[in-house]
Order: sequence, then C-alpha cells, then structure tokens
Amino acid sequence: MKRSEINTIMRESLEFLGGMKFLLPPFATWTPADWRRKGPECREIVDQQLGWDITDFGSGDFARVGLFLFTIRNGTLASLADPLGKVYAEKIMIVRENQLTPTHFHHQKMEDIINRGGGNLVIRVWNATATDQLADTPVTLSMDGVSVTVAAGGTITLPPGESVCLPQRNYHRFWGEEGKGTVLVGEVSRVNDDRVDNHFFDPVGRFPDIDEDVEPLYLLYNDYARYYRPKAAK
Ligand SMILES: [Fe+2]
Repeated sequence: MKRSEINTIMRESLEFLGGMKFLLPPFATWTPADWRRKGPECREIVDQQLGWDITDFGSGDFARVGLFLFTIRNGTLASLADPLGKVYAEKIMIVRENQLTPTHFHHQKMEDIINRGGGNLVIRVWNATATDQLADTPVTLSMDGVSVTVAAGGTITLPPGESVCLPQRNYHRFWGEEGKGTVLVGEVSRVNDDRVDNHFFDPVGRFPDIDEDVEPLYLLYNDYARYYRPKAAK
C-alpha cells in the first residue's frame, strides 16, 4: 500500500468514527514528530501493540480485500502466565460493503465480534480439522448467549447490536453486506499478538508492504520502532 493511501484511510476512518460517536484515545492522533519526543512513559502503547492497524492483506486492493483496525487495549502473551495479568483486548474495526477479511483462525485468541452500528456484518464459518483444513462438520457458536448451529461454510449475519463469540481454531471470513452500508465492528477478546496468532487458510500477508510516497499522518503500530526512541528513565 502507498503511505498516501493509508493516510487517506486514516482521515476517512476518523470521520466515520466521529459520525458514529466512537472516539479514539489520545495517542491515535500523535504525529510522527510527537512520537519522536515521547519518553518511556509511553512504553505500554508500543509493547502491547496499541494503535492503528490498516492492512490490505497483501492484495493491493484495500477496498476489495482489506481491513481497518485500531487496538484500543491489549496485554502481552506473557500476561497469560500471570493469574492477575491483563488477559483481555479490545479493538475497533471498520468493514466496508463487500470488503473481505480472508479466511483465518486464531491459535490462542477467543474473540467476540460485535456489530456496533452501521450496516450488517456477514461472517462465513468453518471448524478446522487437525491438519488445519476446512472441516465439513456443522459449526456451533454462541450469538449473544444463544447457541446457533450452521452448516460448514455457512454464514451468519450480525445486524447492529448483535455479536458472536468465535473460539480458537474457528475459521472465519467476513465482509459488509452489500447495500447496507459501512459497518462499525467491535472486538473484545483474549490478549492478542497479531505477529504470531493468525493462521490464514490461503497464504496472505497480515501486514501490508508500504511504499513510503509521503510522510505518515499518524503511525501504524508497526511504525513505532522507526520513530519511538525513548531515552532511558533517569
Ligand atoms: Fe479473527
């Protein structure tokens, strides 16, 4: 993706989120220059991979295959070993009509996917076999406390307000239903490390290759290492 395209998606996302009255935390709008001045007090944002996450999954066509995410809170995988650790995470996503997130499961993350408003979210689901293939067995999921079973590769549709719990190793792909508008999607989950936790059925890239044609408007969390150089605490 070109950096200019990512900047445009950031501007459009802030406009959409504002319209939905969903506001992001302060670090969302720290500029690259702001980040260069930040100190060790901001370490958690970097270590827990908080912030902007925009990807085309390597497709080169964000509108067709892509996803906007912003990680609002998260722990680290090390938290799971601590009985009192921060073992939860929250993300906000924007899914456009017919914009696909490719088929994947998570090794350790259980996630509730929540339609926070806008259009309808369509999710196609399968169980995974022991060898990570698509199983032909029915899929049973909890939708807002109600157990629902669909055929292998069947779809569920979430209108605004509704949610589904996707357990580990549940294969899923999703998009916004055509004609219903852009969807604001929440995610409440176990702690998440996107660098190691996603298994895609087809080989795709979780993070985009970026052509730095302009300066970043705001940083993706993958950019922090290039801009955040805190001096050691005195
Ligand atoms: Fe997922």
